[in-house]
Amino acid sequence: MKITIIGHGNVGGALATAWARAGHKILIGTRKTDDAKAKDLITSHPNIEQKPMSMAITESEVILIATPAHVTAELAQSWGALPGKVIIDATNAIWKQPEPYETGYHAFVDICKAEVVKAFNTTGFENMADPRYCDTTADMFVAGDSEKAQDIAIRLAKDAGFETVYNFGGADKVKALEHFAFGWINLAIMQGEGRQMALKILKR
Ligand SMILES: NC(=O)c1ccc[n+]([C@@H]2O[C@H](COP(=O)([O-])OP(=O)(O)OC[C@H]3O[C@@H](n4cnc5c(N)ncnc54)[C@H](OP(=O)(O)O)[C@@H]3O)[C@@H](O)[C@H]2O)c1
Repeated sequence: MKITIIGHGNVGGALATAWARAGHKILIGTRKTDDAKAKDLITSHPNIEQKPMSMAITESEVILIATPAHVTAELAQSWGALPGKVIIDATNAIWKQPEPYETGYHAFVDICKAEVVKAFNTTGFENMADPRYCDTTADMFVAGDSEKAQDIAIRLAKDAGFETVYNFGGADKVKALEHFAFGWINLAIMQGEGRQMALKILKR
């Protein structure tokens, strides 16, 4: 799969590396040509390339968004309609929303008319780089109305090493998935459990 990554910091960088190792072609869509972080990623794996953002958006069918959430509406406006493209929104609008939208997911659905899914937002980037814990793996969760986008996000979560991926529901559960992410942030950071922890659903 050819995947464009917009926002190649902690989350974008971890997933670029994980997906490149799984055999996907990664385009890092950058705002500036001389980008040190993008250069580091390119040199880390032959499957990772850098392209100007607009070119990277055009060339891939799947686009991961891993920027601050509040810039998503502005980014979506700059790209316009992207019918048929799959947008995976990993952002969390916990501290600042992409006004007038509640979340990045809602901005991309409304402005880009794309197949959108919220995913890769509920755990720390360290777990995206390596979801393994002893003899088990962290769980991943996806939400949104597009079955096609959910299927792709589930496949890519598995390619990154997440064994179990839960469907958290449709568009009406996207904000709930961000609140769920806040559960991890609260425990890991605010309550001091540390970032080397992950959520796992137990069943019987
Ligand atoms: N950190 C985590 O563990 C974690 C886990 C789950 C979800 N998330 C969510 O994932 C998103 C990214 O988090 P992060 O920790 O990866 O952040 P980060 O390391 O700060 O990376 C953010 C990336 O977004 C880029 N960016 C900022 N403004 C932009 C704009 N207007 N247009 C294009 N690119 C822009 C930055 O580029 P420059 O470097 O050029 O500024 C950088 O590459 C956030 O929404 C966060 O809530 C984070």
